[in-house]
Amino acid sequence: MGIDSIKKVAVVGAGLVGHGIAQVFAMNGYDVNLLDLNDEILKEALHKIQWSLNKFVEKRRIREEDAITTLSKIKTFTRYEKAMNDIDFAIEVVPENMDIKKKIFSKIDKLSPAHAIITSNTSALSISAMGMATNRPEQVAGMHWFHPPQLMRLIEVINGDDTNKETTDAVFDLSKRLGKTPILCKKDVRGFIVNRILGIVFNEAFWAYQRGETSKEGLDASTKYTGNFPMGWFELCDYIGVDLIYDVGTILHEAYGSRFQPCEELIEPLVRAKKYGQKTGSGFYDWSKGRPNIPSNLAGEYDVERSWAIAINETAWLILDDVAEPESIDIGMELGTGWPLGPCKYADRKGLDWEYNKLEGLYNKYRMEMYNPCPLLSEYIEKGWTGKKTKKGFYKY
Ligand SMILES: NC(=O)c1ccc[n+]([C@@H]2O[C@H](COP(=O)([O-])OP(=O)(O)OC[C@H]3O[C@@H](n4cnc5c(N)ncnc54)[C@H](O)[C@@H]3O)[C@@H](O)[C@H]2O)c1
Repeated sequence: MGIDSIKKVAVVGAGLVGHGIAQVFAMNGYDVNLLDLNDEILKEALHKIQWSLNKFVEKRRIREEDAITTLSKIKTFTRYEKAMNDIDFAIEVVPENMDIKKKIFSKIDKLSPAHAIITSNTSALSISAMGMATNRPEQVAGMHWFHPPQLMRLIEVINGDDTNKETTDAVFDLSKRLGKTPILCKKDVRGFIVNRILGIVFNEAFWAYQRGETSKEGLDASTKYTGNFPMGWFELCDYIGVDLIYDVGTILHEAYGSRFQPCEELIEPLVRAKKYGQKTGSGFYDWSKGRPNIPSNLAGEYDVERSWAIAINETAWLILDDVAEPESIDIGMELGTGWPLGPCKYADRKGLDWEYNKLEGLYNKYRMEMYNPCPLLSEYIEKGWTGKKTKKGFYKY
C-alpha cells in the first residue's frame, strides 16, 4: 500500500508513549483513533497531549490554531469494533507482554480493513510472532519510537520474518513524513538495534556498581561529564522505567544467553518494590523533588571507556549477524539516545585494536561473556582494518 492512501490511523494504548505517538500523527494531519481500556486513561492521555501542544505553542513551534486542529483529529475509543473499522494503519503501544500483544494483533486483524498495515512499538519482542497472530503477517512490521515521541527523531523500522517490502517501505516513508529519521533493522532480533546496545551498556554499569567499583552518582557523573552522554546510565534507567529495563533485560538474556547476564540482585528488588523510576517517584534515585543531583566532582569514578567498548562489541555482533549497517547503528544511537557519537564512528576514531585490547583486558579480569571480543573485531584487525588511521574500520575513509 502506498503511503498516500494512509489517512486514518489507530493507536492502541494511550500510556506513556502511545499518547505521544497519537499526537505526532495528528500534528501531521492524520485522523487518529486512540484506544485504551477505559475513559479515565483516555481523558488523562488527552490532557497530556493538550499540555504538550501548549508547550509547542509557547515555544512557537506551532500556532494556537494548529494545536486546536491537532486535538480535533484525535478521537478516543474503548471498543475495538468502532476504532478499527475504517483505518489504514495501526500501531500497538500496550505493555511489553507477548500474550497481550498477540491478542490485540488478532483483534485488529479481524476488525480492520484488509489493506491496513499493523505495526508494533515493542521495545524488544518478536514482530514475527505478532504477525503470526494475524492473517496478514506480510503486512505486519515493527515501528519502534523513542520516548518522548513528540521530541525524539528516531524510528526503528523492523522487518518480521514475513514482512513484505511494500510494508517495510510504507512504514519507512511514513516515518519520514512524520518528520522522523527511520533506520532499518533487517532482522527480527531481540532488542533490535538501539535497545540491544543500550541493554548491554546498562548491564556493564549495573555489574560495575554491584561489584562495588563505583557509586551510582560517580558512575552517572562519569557518563555525563566525562563521556558527554546526555544522562548517567542510572538516571536514564529511571527515566525510561526500571520495569521496562528489567523486562527488556530478561528478553535479551533469553535471546543471547550469558553475554546478557542480568544483574538480578540489583534490579529485581526495585521492580518488586514497584520503584520504577521517574514515573513512580523513585527508582535508583529519588525523583520526588525532580531530577536527581549528579555532582560533577565525582566524574572519573567510573571508566566510561568501558561503556564504549561494550557498546562497540555489541555493534560488531549486530554487523556480523547482518542485522544492521554501521550507518544505521550510528544514527540509532545518536538520535535514539542522544549519544555524542555513534559507536562505529567512535571505534574508528579510537582504533578497533584499542577497543579489542580494552575488551580483552576486561574479559581476563572479570571472565564475563559480555567482555569477550566479537569475532568480527578480530577479523577486521587481522585484515588491518583498525579505523581511520588505516582508512578502513567500520567505515571506509
Ligand atoms: N517507555 C518507553 O520509554 C518506551 C519507548 C519505546 C517503546 N516502548 C514500548 O511501548 C509499549 C508501551 O509502553 P509504555 O511505556 O507506553 O507503557 P504504558 O504502561 O505507559 O502504556 C500502555 C497502555 O496500554 C493500555 N493497555 C493495556 N492493555 C490494553 C488493551 N488490551 N487494549 C488497549 N490498551 C491497553 C494501558 O492501559 C496503558 O495505558 C511497550 O511495548 C514498550 O516496550 C516504551
